[in-house]
Amino acid sequence: MSPPPPDVDTDDCLPSYNYLFCPDILREKVAFITGGGSGIGFRIAEIFMRHGCHVVIASRSQQRVSDAAKKLITATGQQCLPLSLDVRQPQSITAAVDNALKKFGKIDILINGAAGNFLCAASNMSFNAYKTVIDIDTVGTFNVSKVVFEKYFRDHGGVIINITATLDYRGQALQVHAGTAKAAVDAMTRHLAVEWGHNNIRVNSLAPGPISGTEGMNRLGSHNPNMERSILASPLQRMGNKTEIAHGALYLASPLASYVTGTILVVDGGHWMTSANDYMKLIRNKSFPSKL
Ligand code: HXC
Ligand code: NAP
Repeated sequence: MSPPPPDVDTDDCLPSYNYLFCPDILREKVAFITGGGSGIGFRIAEIFMRHGCHVVIASRSQQRVSDAAKKLITATGQQCLPLSLDVRQPQSITAAVDNALKKFGKIDILINGAAGNFLCAASNMSFNAYKTVIDIDTVGTFNVSKVVFEKYFRDHGGVIINITATLDYRGQALQVHAGTAKAAVDAMTRHLAVEWGHNNIRVNSLAPGPISGTEGMNRLGSHNPNMERSILASPLQRMGNKTEIAHGALYLASPLASYVTGTILVVDGGHWMTSANDYMKLIRNKSFPSKL
């Protein structure tokens, strides 16, 4: 079995990179990546740039995306435009997409990676906490997809990759907000694939498992005493890394996936099938504050 590609746990570029795909497979393409300033989105930006792509990375914090863009440009020599937007605010999305089109003249690939999450039992969750995650993950994915569709993809085609999760497959404890949000995005993937296939747009989901060096794992894994055991009991017995997720995105964005639409690519080492999911054990654990 191939060893995992090397990665670094911080939001920094890889010190070196071993090409598995053709190095110019995304040559002169332009990708618009929400959540591209950190974690999985940052690594997708880097791997795409290493394959010839220019990118726009967009999230709420201008500081975060500007710092990330400097690192990405230095490491890859490609162009990276850092923009601030809130995926819950259509006006800010419209302004960012206009800026991206002004700079690059096109968008070929949209990665919907922006998301919010925390561990919380449904019984402890406020109405607003649930709504906030649905607004960012689900409504945000629709908002950005719609703006990019209207402004560019409708007439030129394109590829959309929605970053989802496996949480809903088994009803993961303490994750009703994120699980239902991502399940809705997987449904959105299929609906948009059907409606927009005629416009030469492919729409797919990419569902990561537990990924090292990410805010998601910091938030979900560090308070979960069962996490290590659950990972060791999973088929590949380890966490994934950000480069492995970026390679999945690279495949879906590339011409290798030219006949692939409306699907979910699960990149989780088989974790969801065996993951521990004992709600009573989790909530009884004293290390869980009511609000994490
Ligand atoms: C319970 C919480 C909470 C927590 C916030 N809330 N944090 N409830 N537990 N830990 C509640 C608040 O009290 C409030 O409700 C409501 O949620 C909105 O909170 P705000 O702070 O006002 O929201 P906002 O500023 O919009 O921030 C959104 C956020 C925040 C999701 C709450 O954490 C964020 O910006 N996250 C982005 C980064 C992130 O989460 N990355 C991880 C993605 S990983 P009230 O009722 O008080 O008004 C991921 C992994 C999936 O998705 C799978 C992994 C295996
Ligand atoms: P992350 O670094 O926290 O990524 C989330 C990004 O979303 C941040 O860059 C954040 O930047 C941005 N964001 C949050 N709210 C936003 C908003 N309202 N508008 C615009 N941008 C917003 O976490 P990650 O762990 O790498 O997660 C990346 C993606 O992978 C997410 O979709 C997540 O659900 C998914 N995922 C992760 C894992 C994992 O193990 N880590 C597993 C399954 C799925 P700002 O704060 O600057 O806005």
